Amino acid sequence: MLVLGLEASCDETACGVVRDNGCVMSDVIHTQTSLHAPHGGVVPEVASRDHVRHVSRVVERALAEAGVTLADIDAIAVTTRPGLLGALLVGVEFAKALSLATGKPLVGVDHLHGHLSASALFARDDVDHEAPPYPHVALVASGGHTALYLVKGPRVTDVDALGSTRDDAAGECFDKVAKAIGLGYPGGPAIDRWAEHGDPTRCPLTFPRDRLDGCDFSFSGLKTRVAAHVEARGVPRNESELADLCAAVRAAIVRTLVDKTIAATEHTNAGTLTLGGGVAANRALRSELMRAAEARALRCYLPARFACTDNGAMIAWAGLQRLRAGERDGLDLDAATTSVLPTVTRKGRGRRDAEKRRE
Ligand code: KG4
Ligand code: ZN
Repeated sequence: MLVLGLEASCDETACGVVRDNGCVMSDVIHTQTSLHAPHGGVVPEVASRDHVRHVSRVVERALAEAGVTLADIDAIAVTTRPGLLGALLVGVEFAKALSLATGKPLVGVDHLHGHLSASALFARDDVDHEAPPYPHVALVASGGHTALYLVKGPRVTDVDALGSTRDDAAGECFDKVAKAIGLGYPGGPAIDRWAEHGDPTRCPLTFPRDRLDGCDFSFSGLKTRVAAHVEARGVPRNESELADLCAAVRAAIVRTLVDKTIAATEHTNAGTLTLGGGVAANRALRSELMRAAEARALRCYLPARFACTDNGAMIAWAGLQRLRAGERDGLDLDAATTSVLPTVTRKGRGRRDAEKRRE
């Protein structure tokens, strides 16, 4: 079985073709980063227009790179939520048109559920691959969300929330710090690269441990400390200072994410943990989490780095889980700005909205 997954929830038009064993046959991403850069953030209308311009070509390329045609595809999955409404609608309407024209089934996917499922994906030439068993604890750390979940099965209804950020998401914190010290957007990869050459102990800034109990996170204090430091002392004066500051910031964010994920895995007795979202591409997070898990005899499944940031393959895979459960959507499929997962970030309209929806 082959599923085509389409993702257009924010500033990436992405399409992937995935086989039912998790093998990613193709993964094509058109990014709008340079288009939004002069505005200092994603401009919704600019994003929608760019999705319209590129969606058709991105889908054609994904089919070509997988070596298949639309006739070989068994179903079409598309991100329906959460994200920018105008962007989501481009993907949803395009997927509906594909489904209508080909007669193939259509399934809508929650973007966060896509990130949660990414550890099961592997590149075409990866032969020894094993998907994480259930139940497992999953950390999703991206630009818009940071939360811990207990994943009891493959469907979105099998996911329980354990905790989430009370303010900024981890990726957002990387991005804001990067902006404050003059690195471009997205800041996560830039800080990650600089940090490789730095030494956190040489940085004059220290970051106290996250004092929040349980599985909740708070990252806004770290960002504020860096901003105050830059205000008082200016941006780093040379490459060595920049590298040391990046190393200290990365170490502080990674320490919080690792400590909370390990504690949640032990507390729930899940025994297995996974990672997802753009921040899961962070080199230090990957190695520290793996090391901490091994030290406690926990199994740790890391997604391939290509599957961490937004992509169409993860949407195809999450859609495939819905199809296997006999679920389908009709041509009345709609887009929405909020996730269906319980408790996303409380900073936005997370927990209270989710509770209201369940009432
Ligand atoms: O999942 P994603 O592509 O989009 C959202 O759904 O938000 O995540 C993007 C976020 C950005 O904040 C970016 O700075 C961060 O992931 N990111 C990283 C790395 N690569 C991407 N953060 C830290 N280290 C990285 N290597
Ligand atoms: Zn994402």
